[in-house]
Amino acid sequence: MKARASAPGKAILFGEHSVVYGKPAIAIAVDKKAVVTIREGTTDHTQVKIPELNVYGSIDNDKGIITPQDEDFNPVSPSFNVGILEYIQHALHYHKFKLDHGLDITVNLEIPIGAGLGSSAAITVATIAAAASYSNNQLSREEIAKMAHQVEMNVQGRASPLDTTISTYGGFSYFTHSEGAVKLETDLEMPLVVGYTSQPGNTGELIAMVKKLSLKHPSVINPILDIMETVTNNARESIIKGDQQKIGELMNINQGLLDSLGVNTLELSKMVYESRNAGAIGSKLTGAGGGGSIIAYCPGKTQEVLEKLQNIENAFPVTISSQGVMML
Ligand code: MEV
Repeated sequence: MKARASAPGKAILFGEHSVVYGKPAIAIAVDKKAVVTIREGTTDHTQVKIPELNVYGSIDNDKGIITPQDEDFNPVSPSFNVGILEYIQHALHYHKFKLDHGLDITVNLEIPIGAGLGSSAAITVATIAAAASYSNNQLSREEIAKMAHQVEMNVQGRASPLDTTISTYGGFSYFTHSEGAVKLETDLEMPLVVGYTSQPGNTGELIAMVKKLSLKHPSVINPILDIMETVTNNARESIIKGDQQKIGELMNINQGLLDSLGVNTLELSKMVYESRNAGAIGSKLTGAGGGGSIIAYCPGKTQEVLEKLQNIENAFPVTISSQGVMML
C-alpha cells in the first residue's frame, strides 16, 4: 500500500512584515514542491528519509520520540534540518492509523530550506494529505490548511497561516490575518528568479526588531506600514489587470520600504540591484529578510538574471503553481 501527495512552496510578492500589523500581503505558490510518499514500514517505528537534506530518522508516535540517524548532515545547520522531522511527527498526529507496523516516509524536496520559501509548510501540508490518503480519510482543503497551520504553531510556537494556506490552495493569494486568503483570479505569468543566501534570516527576531523600531518611532513607522498597505492594494489591481511594468515598480517601492524597516542586508541588496541591472523589472527581498531570499520579476529576461545572480549567490527560476496540494 502506498500514498503520495505533493504541496508547493511559496514566495511573498508584497506585504511581508506589514502583514503582521493587520495589513494585506500577496503571495504565490511556486513550482517547487515537497513530495511525500508513505508506504507500509518494516519495523514498529516510522522511518523518515529526506534524501535532499541527508536527514534520516525514526519517529515513535506513541511516545513522541524522534531519533535522528546521523548520516551525513548538512554541516551548516544540522539541527535545523533535523527539526524538519518534528513537522512530520506533528502532521501524523492527526491521523488515527490502525496499524500493526510503522510507516516508511520519504520526502523529496525541491525547495531550499531556510530561504523563506515555505519548505516546512509544504512538507507539513503534503504529509497531512498523504497520511489522510493512506488511512482512507477524506479531507477538504480547508481542513488540510487548518491542520497544517496548527502543526506549524505546535512546532514553532507561533506561525502565520500564510505559508500553509498558499501551499494548500496554490495560485495567487491576497491575504490578511482577519480574513485569511482570497484567491486572485488572473492569467498573469509570473516568471521569477529566486536568489538566496546560505544564511537564513531568523523570522522571530526580525519581527521583534521591527516591533521595537515601531514602538520607538511610531509616527514614522506607522505611516510606512500604511504605505505598504497601499502598495499591496495597488499591486493587487495591477496583477488582476496584468500590468507587468506597474507590478515591477511596486516591487521596487516595497523593497525600499522594507529597507527602511531594517530587514534588508548587504547581500540581499547586491542581488536586488544586480538583478535589476540584468533586466528584472522589479526585485525585492521576500519573506522576513535578514538573510534568506530575493525575488526578481523578469519577463523575457529570466536567463540573463539567473546567470547574474548565480555569479553572486545561489539562484533558480520559479514560476507560479496554480495547483496547491495534490494527491499523486
Ligand atoms: C515571513 O515569511 C513573513 C513575515 O511577514 C512574518 C509572517 O507573516 O508571519 C515577516
